[in-house]
Amino acid sequence: MIITIDGPAGSGKSTAARKLAAKLGIPYLDTGAMYRVVTLAALETGIDLHDEAALTRVAEQGQYALDPGPTHIRVTLDGRDVTEEIRSMRVNDHTRFIAGSPGVRRALIQKQREIVGRMGDVVTEGRDQGTAAFPDADVKFFLDAAPTKRVERRYHELLADGEEVTFDQVLANVLERDRTDSQRPVAPLRMPPGAIQIDTTHLSIAEVLDAMLAHLRDAGWLSQVTGSIPD
Ligand code: DC
Repeated sequence: MIITIDGPAGSGKSTAARKLAAKLGIPYLDTGAMYRVVTLAALETGIDLHDEAALTRVAEQGQYALDPGPTHIRVTLDGRDVTEEIRSMRVNDHTRFIAGSPGVRRALIQKQREIVGRMGDVVTEGRDQGTAAFPDADVKFFLDAAPTKRVERRYHELLADGEEVTFDQVLANVLERDRTDSQRPVAPLRMPPGAIQIDTTHLSIAEVLDAMLAHLRDAGWLSQVTGSIPD
């Protein structure tokens, strides 16, 4: 069973995906982490971020790995743990070049399909999971929230990670990523047809999780998940 969760930065989709997967006892895939580690690899090798062929090579051949599991995702680059580094503002400020590259998107979608093919049941989250990567997914969610709320969440996440950022820097970054995510010619952020939309502006994580589980229960999906079945 494939469950996709798409949405913009700060919509709460990563936490929701992690919690839902843990509750169902199945793995989750954070595809943003893939774009982030390719961004870090590109920055470290010093290639021109407009060089489509070079970016595609990094995505296809870069020595990075994701270790997905029900409670965490560990990311390594050349054997080094970069789980935290890929969340830095330096990476945030450059992901749009990588996410806008058709060659990178092709390579990463192929990797996502391979990973998901091996996993069987999975919750996968990103910007294009229900549209480009897994258009035939069993259940699709689309999470969104008011921009001010999304910026607030990202700001507090970054502060908690020890980043020295101002609210205005995060605001500018989130708005820029919204713009580039929704306007890029290749696989722009869109609500997938048939997706269940959840506005998380005024919801707690527990309420978002409850809304998703209620949908899965009503649609008769809970009994089909191979992991532990929630109450
Ligand atoms: O969800 P996130 O903030 O970790 O995503 C990091 C970047 O990768 C962001 O700029 C959007 C992009 N992305 C994408 O284009 N497609 C995905 N499936 C996942 C993320």
